[in-house]
Amino acid sequence: MNPSPSLSPVPAERPAGARLLAITSGKGGVGKTLLSANLAAALARQGERVLVIDADLGLANLDVVLNLQPRTTLHEVFTGEATLEEAVVDAPGGFQVLLAGSGLIEYSRLTPPVREQLAQLIDTVRPRYDRVLIDTGAGLSDIVLYAVSLADEVLVIATPEPTALADAYATVKVLALQQGRTRPMLVVNQTQRRGEGQHVAVQFQLVLDRFVRRPDGETVTLQPLGDIPLDPTVRQAVQKRQLLVLTYPGSDAARAIDDIATRLRNMAGLQSGR
Ligand SMILES: Nc1ncnc2c1ncn2[C@@H]1O[C@H](COP(=O)(O)OP(=O)(O)OP(=O)(O)O)[C@@H](O)[C@H]1O
Ligand SMILES: [Mg+2]
Repeated sequence: MNPSPSLSPVPAERPAGARLLAITSGKGGVGKTLLSANLAAALARQGERVLVIDADLGLANLDVVLNLQPRTTLHEVFTGEATLEEAVVDAPGGFQVLLAGSGLIEYSRLTPPVREQLAQLIDTVRPRYDRVLIDTGAGLSDIVLYAVSLADEVLVIATPEPTALADAYATVKVLALQQGRTRPMLVVNQTQRRGEGQHVAVQFQLVLDRFVRRPDGETVTLQPLGDIPLDPTVRQAVQKRQLLVLTYPGSDAARAIDDIATRLRNMAGLQSGR
């Protein structure tokens, strides 16, 4: 299962400490930040010490979703104006966050200092938590791919829309070829009928079986974690800048995210995670 060393910038063996999960999608606006924040709260409720890193470094909006107005962000940590401890913020929901700045052109590309700082950041936070979620930006920029490469596991989020699926497929393909990842997790968001998520996962897997191999021939197998229905409470919670799982805990979408948290926890230890 482990990729050959030449394929991956990350070590095949997971170091001790937190499990790192990158949440990515290819397409923008499909629910990465919604899932990162609410999954963190669901995992925290199940007893985990969780940190969410906003790795959408130039266009951050985890702060908006959580209604936090950080004085200190990762930008200040990276420039040496603040310590990491100063930038870690308690979020409603019982987890912690490292927020990013917005409108900062220096994070549109992966420069050697940003690469170095992100890697160092991961090494520092890993021993302090059970789980670190990395909320990435959209697209397949070098900065997104690098943020994903730092994680032990990757969760790809798609919606049933053909464009979102095409982008999720492209993401999984690039991650297989570039990072040797053969076990990406999948969440289908904004489903509109029962069974739609499962149907999407089956079709997605068929396309992967036909067209995607890691360079050493290994096939790619999706790990479906569940679906989140299209649910008006999601938008209502975002409008109020509150967490869905706290404000509407009985809603279909919140319950779906709870189930995803449980499945993720049950998966721990059962697979290499890559
Ligand atoms: N299950 C859902 N039901 C209803 N609306 C949803 C659902 N999931 C997401 N949305 C809507 O989509 C919006 C965008 O979600 P979110 O910000 O999490 O996407 P993103 O993938 O992080 O976007 P970006 O690529 O810009 O970072 C939400 O604010 C919400 O209004
Ligand atoms: Mg986002």
